[in-house]
Amino acid sequence: MGKSDIWRADFESAARRRGQIADPEWERGSVLTPAVARSVQKFQVGESGDGAHLIAEAVATGDHAYAAAVRLFVAEEQNHARMLGRLLRAAGWATVHADWTDVVFVRLRRLLGLRLELMIPAVAEVIALRYYRALADGGHDPLLVDVARRILDDEQRHVPFQCHRLRVGFADFPRAVRFIVENGWRLTAFGVTVVVAFDHGSALAELGVGRRQFISDTWPLFGDVIGAVFGDRQ
Ligand SMILES: [Fe+2]
Ligand SMILES: [Fe+2]
Repeated sequence: MGKSDIWRADFESAARRRGQIADPEWERGSVLTPAVARSVQKFQVGESGDGAHLIAEAVATGDHAYAAAVRLFVAEEQNHARMLGRLLRAAGWATVHADWTDVVFVRLRRLLGLRLELMIPAVAEVIALRYYRALADGGHDPLLVDVARRILDDEQRHVPFQCHRLRVGFADFPRAVRFIVENGWRLTAFGVTVVVAFDHGSALAELGVGRRQFISDTWPLFGDVIGAVFGDRQ
């Protein structure tokens, strides 16, 4: 079984597991503070892309198992958007359409071209790891904690999935180019982390995570990703 088959099987079994557990109890309602609600609104938009571009590229690789895994991956992200949307509704908050950070993300991806189509979302996924952990550990609302835990479970699988593909994608690149890409990526990741830490600062503070702590906790997670993609050994 190739790596792509393993990933497909992994996503399939996650989908089966999800099918077996009941949805969060939306009807119990939710109480979110304005700072947390506004913060969740932004992540909800970020999770809600249709993934058509990514799927098309996965199909173009000719690797059917990988394309199948990417479809399931996109479905998981859409499920995150759905759950966050229902959480907001349960708390009496609307979903929003586009947040400026989201627009910047999409622009950057288009600008940087195809290979980076995976690198930018990978930055978002690493930040998401720390963000959803903050919601899961520091949230005061049971529904919020339930949704955050479910999403965190998925995101923990998404990061290695993206790393694997990126490692394959950069394997043939000359050392010098890899060096430039690696450090450009590092810089981008740092910049985005700082922006998110400030943009979501008041929500994070309510969750017990200071801006500085958010940045210093996220940074090593990103170091692991760089190691997995560009390191000498996997
Ligand atoms: Fe997600
Ligand atoms: Fe994800």
